[in-house]
Amino acid sequence: MTVFTIFGSTGDLMYNKLLPALNNLQKNNHLPGDTKILCVGRRDWDTSDYLAAVDEAVDSSKISEIRTMLEYVKVSLDEASGYDALKGKIESNGENTEKIFYLALPPSLFPKVAGGLSQNGLIKKGENTARIVFEKPFGEDLESAHEINRTLWNYFEEDQIYRIDHYLGKEMIQNILTLRFANRIFESDWNKDSIEKVSIIVKEKHGIDNRGNYYDSIGALRDMVQSHLLQMLALTAMEAPRAFNAQSIRKEKVSLLKKLSLEKGDVFNAQYQGYKAEPKVRKDSRTETFVALKVFIDDSRWRDVPFYMMTGKKMNEKSSEIIIDFKENDVTKNLWPDQKLTHNQLVVKVAPDEGVSFRMNVKETGLSNKIIPSRMDYSHGKDAFGNVPEAYEKLLLEIVKKNALLFTRWDEIETTWRFIDQVTNRCMKAPYIYESEDDLIKTLQERSEYNDS
Ligand SMILES: NC(=O)c1ccc[n+]([C@@H]2O[C@H](COP(=O)([O-])OP(=O)(O)OC[C@H]3O[C@@H](n4cnc5c(N)ncnc54)[C@H](OP(=O)(O)O)[C@@H]3O)[C@@H](O)[C@H]2O)c1
Repeated sequence: MTVFTIFGSTGDLMYNKLLPALNNLQKNNHLPGDTKILCVGRRDWDTSDYLAAVDEAVDSSKISEIRTMLEYVKVSLDEASGYDALKGKIESNGENTEKIFYLALPPSLFPKVAGGLSQNGLIKKGENTARIVFEKPFGEDLESAHEINRTLWNYFEEDQIYRIDHYLGKEMIQNILTLRFANRIFESDWNKDSIEKVSIIVKEKHGIDNRGNYYDSIGALRDMVQSHLLQMLALTAMEAPRAFNAQSIRKEKVSLLKKLSLEKGDVFNAQYQGYKAEPKVRKDSRTETFVALKVFIDDSRWRDVPFYMMTGKKMNEKSSEIIIDFKENDVTKNLWPDQKLTHNQLVVKVAPDEGVSFRMNVKETGLSNKIIPSRMDYSHGKDAFGNVPEAYEKLLLEIVKKNALLFTRWDEIETTWRFIDQVTNRCMKAPYIYESEDDLIKTLQERSEYNDS
């Protein structure tokens, strides 16, 4: 028996991601045969009220396989007896039940609910049939992340804790290590001798929508760079792990993240025009909705290779990619001194398209000797006939299987927050106000530290 207990079951994450992901897993027979889904909320509802709300919020095709598996349980977080009903339902399944507690709640409630689950005996420290899942953001800075983590370690062992960064569940993020280490052609040139620069770019088309309350106290650096972009950077630049398992891969990621450095002037923060007029945003807000950083990695593989990270809202399009620009080589220059050749470029496309594109030089068709750039494209979804799993599907399945590879260990969180705190405290200025992506690009190109990016 496996029981998912999901707190925050009336929220956006549950309706839009978790329920559809569980539905697909069930449809493809990936969930254990006797799985139950307990949907926890604070509202005075029963299961039929909950199902009515689900039917309203979620397309029926996205819950048809699991609708009968859903059961609503009211938990009053502030009352001593608040967990009694939940405890009764879980314990009625017997001692060997696999218990997964998922906190799709505002992060401020993490310590309270973690404590409630522990004090009510729903999860025991070290109990190998029980695990607890936390959503990002894990803290707002190093100190708050430490505080949350100290509380969690009171109640749980590290291997019971699954910290989600849903980017790690994306197909092409999982594919970075395969691309690098399963292909000799890339790994042997994956260093400062062959690579000119690396750019990690995550663009969002929309603004902050109705999330002013959360976003205005966080900003792009802490919302996106601390988690998604630094994870992308770590996987792109880390050394080969000893084995393809959670422990070895996380060890190499942490070791890489500890070697990051940046100069005070190598951060550019900006805010889209009209941001201060968004609901629940301070009228004098300096929160960045765009940030660009140039960082270096202090080791023999990467010394002097710039890694650019950029992310922002109100861009021309939604996209997420890693671009590896290779150096020109001297042989080519000698052979074709009169031609202006483009350098090789590898693009890992993470979203919305998924795949890899490699730019190389070829001779133009015909009688001339002109050399022109051409691209080799790999589309990740092309043979999957629409069955590429969503990130949450993969992550939920890995939790069921107790495989922590796609989740962030505490020392990763600690190292990334230490770096982000340094950027926040030393490098952020009054934000540049941008009208559009084109305006930002022009402004960045005028700054010497970004003019080759
Ligand atoms: N939505 C996403 O795509 C997404 C992506 C990445 C990470 N996350 C993270 O996932 C978590 C949930 O996000 P969300 O978008 O689902 O938020 P949401 O739509 O605001 O839902 C929050 C949930 O928490 C419950 N809740 C709020 N305050 C509570 C309280 N004091 N006591 C008990 N329950 C309370 C809400 O219950 P009521 O309905 O009764 O208010 C609701 O079920 C957050 O940590 C967020 O950062 C979300």
